[in-house]
Amino acid sequence: MDFGKTPDGTPVDMYVLSNGRITVKVITYGAIITEIDVPDRHGKLGDVVLGFDNLAGYLGGHPYFGAATGRVANRIARGEFTLDGKDYKLAVNNPPNSLHGGLKGFDKVVWKAHDASGPIGPAVRLTYLSPDGEEGYPGNLAVGVTYTVMPDAELKIDYTATTDKATPVNLTNHSYFNLAGPASGTILDHEVMLPSDQYTPVDETMIPTGEIRPVRGTPLDFTKPATFGARIDEIKGQPGGYDHNYVVGGDHKRPILAARVREPASGRVVEMFTTEPGVQLYTANFLDGTLKGRGGVVYKKQQAFCLEAQHFPDAVHHANFPSIILRPGATYTQTTIYRFSADQATSR
Ligand code: GLA
Repeated sequence: MDFGKTPDGTPVDMYVLSNGRITVKVITYGAIITEIDVPDRHGKLGDVVLGFDNLAGYLGGHPYFGAATGRVANRIARGEFTLDGKDYKLAVNNPPNSLHGGLKGFDKVVWKAHDASGPIGPAVRLTYLSPDGEEGYPGNLAVGVTYTVMPDAELKIDYTATTDKATPVNLTNHSYFNLAGPASGTILDHEVMLPSDQYTPVDETMIPTGEIRPVRGTPLDFTKPATFGARIDEIKGQPGGYDHNYVVGGDHKRPILAARVREPASGRVVEMFTTEPGVQLYTANFLDGTLKGRGGVVYKKQQAFCLEAQHFPDAVHHANFPSIILRPGATYTQTTIYRFSADQATSR
């Protein structure tokens, strides 16, 4: 389906994946998920992600709504790294660091796409060839991401990447969820459970110190379910709120549970399973009421949450973090599943 053209005339398409229980809309610009419709406890379908009505909204600038972020998601300190003895310089687009792939990351390029539907369900595969030197990164990187809608309201995202020179790679999806619907105010009353009992503390520029610390006794502890709002005010600094990388653990071969979030009014639940070693929990603290999304809804601070399955931030500078270096001959893979459901219990 036609979704307009970029300023240089490149056509952008939308793919609609639906199995009746879940509908996911994906555009070839940024491999962005623009909409996810899932039932509430009464079976009523509703959108649960932030986004825009049209391509102009996405082209106008936004904080990675629904996008595939890369070549390296999250931050790289000072926008520089050394690999095999060679120094590389990246755009410092989030001073003093590089964020989410640089000035024109994978969220701002037009991907190729084809229908990849199969026995499991409707699917689209998007591919992009990131040329050697793009945004300062070495090697021609062939990236693929497949969105598959599975039975029982699941969205599966599979990533692959291969390169002809060693390069860091860290891909994620940056959907902003609000399980009550994007127009429904903050997510502070959503209940969250993160099995993870460790996180990677950061300095004042959001770069990990290298430590891996227990969440126990801190407002980051969601090993027992609690609302986002319960202790969010204890997180000091500007803009405050959750923006932390949790250690997921597991064998990284099969997706394991990394997060469960429930919204009490609609009963909607999302569970995230991933092969990734980490998940960035971000409560959209930088939204400030200046962006107007679908249907004219104004997006305010903490009106959404992101669960970004990923390798740890700034992994290129921390030998004790799982490596993000992809070498020629090897294939990077990443699988993340968002499983939606609704509780039946407390409806009146
Ligand atoms: C990630 C980061 C946040 C913020 C958003 C985009 O989630 O962790 O600090 O930069 O992206 O606004």
